[in-house]
Amino acid sequence: MAASSEAGGNTAVPRPEQLELSDDAAYLHYTANETIGGLAFDYTPRAVRPDGSEVPLVCDMSSSILAGPLDVSQFGIIYAGAQKNIGPAGLVVVIVREDLLDRARPDMPSLFGYKALAEAGSMVNTPATYSWYLAGLVFEWLEGGCRWTLGHGGDQRPQGRQAL
Ligand SMILES: Cc1ncc(COP(=O)(O)O)c(C=O)c1O
Repeated sequence: MAASSEAGGNTAVPRPEQLELSDDAAYLHYTANETIGGLAFDYTPRAVRPDGSEVPLVCDMSSSILAGPLDVSQFGIIYAGAQKNIGPAGLVVVIVREDLLDRARPDMPSLFGYKALAEAGSMVNTPATYSWYLAGLVFEWLEGGCRWTLGHGGDQRPQGRQAL
């Protein structure tokens, strides 16, 4: 674990200088807005290896996605359970950087392999069609003029839909 705020009663997000990152980390995972303790990151963490290469950033954005503009290029993988900000429970939106698509463990069932899913347009098997439909209505509603509530300006649109 790179950092924990448990000692302080989970009342503060670790500051960038408190992150203890291992040199050989495969990824850095964080939860942008954690709703149990009520902690939201006010910055996007970064991890760089000694050779200067960037460690892929993996983020649980279940309770922050679509709440404001998002630069997806900073992330290796973004995942978001739809039940918080998108719509129906049972659906997870995953945005994967292309070079990470084929990094699944060899013993991973193919249904969970992002490469196969991406190649099949997320339809390796029958998808949750009604959940997709409902999520689509939310995306259309957001694109159709919903104003951001977090102070980012009223005319900015989410980038998530293009990525999807
Ligand atoms: C960021 C984040 N991820 C995942 C979860 C888990 O969601 P659920 O309890 O709906 O399965 C929560 C719930 O609070 C959350 O805030």
